[in-house]
Amino acid sequence: MLFQKSKHTLFVFLFALAGAVQAQAVKLPNVTILATGGTIAGTGATSTTTVGYTAATVGVQALIQAVPEITKVANVSGEQVFQIASENMSNEHWLTLAKRVNVLLSQPNVDGIVITHGTDTLEETAYFLNLVVKSRKPVVVVGSMRPSTALSADGPINLYNAVQLAGSQAAVGRGVLVAMNDQIHAARDVTKSNTTTADTFRTAELGMVGYLQGGKPFFYRDVTRKHTVETEFDVSKLDVLPQVDVAYAYANVGDVAVKALVAAGAKGLVHAGVGNGSLPAKTKPALVAAREKGVVIVRSARVGQGIVARNGEANDDQLDFVVSDTLSPQKARILLMLALTKTSDTKDIQRMFYTY
Ligand code: DGL
Repeated sequence: MLFQKSKHTLFVFLFALAGAVQAQAVKLPNVTILATGGTIAGTGATSTTTVGYTAATVGVQALIQAVPEITKVANVSGEQVFQIASENMSNEHWLTLAKRVNVLLSQPNVDGIVITHGTDTLEETAYFLNLVVKSRKPVVVVGSMRPSTALSADGPINLYNAVQLAGSQAAVGRGVLVAMNDQIHAARDVTKSNTTTADTFRTAELGMVGYLQGGKPFFYRDVTRKHTVETEFDVSKLDVLPQVDVAYAYANVGDVAVKALVAAGAKGLVHAGVGNGSLPAKTKPALVAAREKGVVIVRSARVGQGIVARNGEANDDQLDFVVSDTLSPQKARILLMLALTKTSDTKDIQRMFYTY
């Protein structure tokens, strides 16, 4: 009798264990999609309209419904944070988005986040979030180069890949990632390199971090600079970011742009210099004067790759300027903005440019 009872108990236990294992085996990650607009939400007049379409017209639920395969790989929910073409992205949009991301990621039932975004400023939003998201959970920024109505629209597969990546353990702790065209890029170093082609997102010399194949992520390298939970930046209580602008250099440039930006209230100024961040003679006095007024000056370069060497093309120690390291002018602006929420000490800011 006792044996019969213990056999029954064992059977019940094993049956429950099998069920639990099976449930664990098919437990899908919970991924939230935050939609902001862009071409991935765009529509064109015909299926061959790949330029001259309207960005930011399709809502997040329609984006999700257009890719039913997503529901097989994740429990997906969607929020329309805003609906804009990304050339109109602002500091205020970034603060709203970052705060929402951090609230969601603090919830134990959220495993990862996908942000659908226009590609024009996608790299900037990704880098901003890379510096202010306070979680190791995956945050994946995705867009498309063809509108949803186009032949071979790249949005659906990009979205499917991004959801897979955001739900994967392999993406945990790698900082904010950009998933486009079956490639995985780190937010710090990726840039849009072509005006219209689907392979536009490149990390030219420092290299992308992995591929997405068959919906699965394969990583081959990791980033060396600090990000997300390792940074000193916290925007949770900020409603405004310091005004930081970029002045572009070119043959025959003068000082009008620099003077105008300083007069308009810039607290920081990134100089997108020619070559190794060179300062044209007609521009330099205005930058020096700006520095004397307390504006923090960062020497960056318009060329796209390479290190802007400190004390190379200018005596930064004497001028009390900062150099951007390898950050593009548009990303140097982001780091300088966040740096100015912490300090105006140029030695400390230079440390930040060698850290993030
Ligand atoms: N207006 C551009 C943007 O929203 C369209 C480019 C795109 O999203 O691919 O960034």
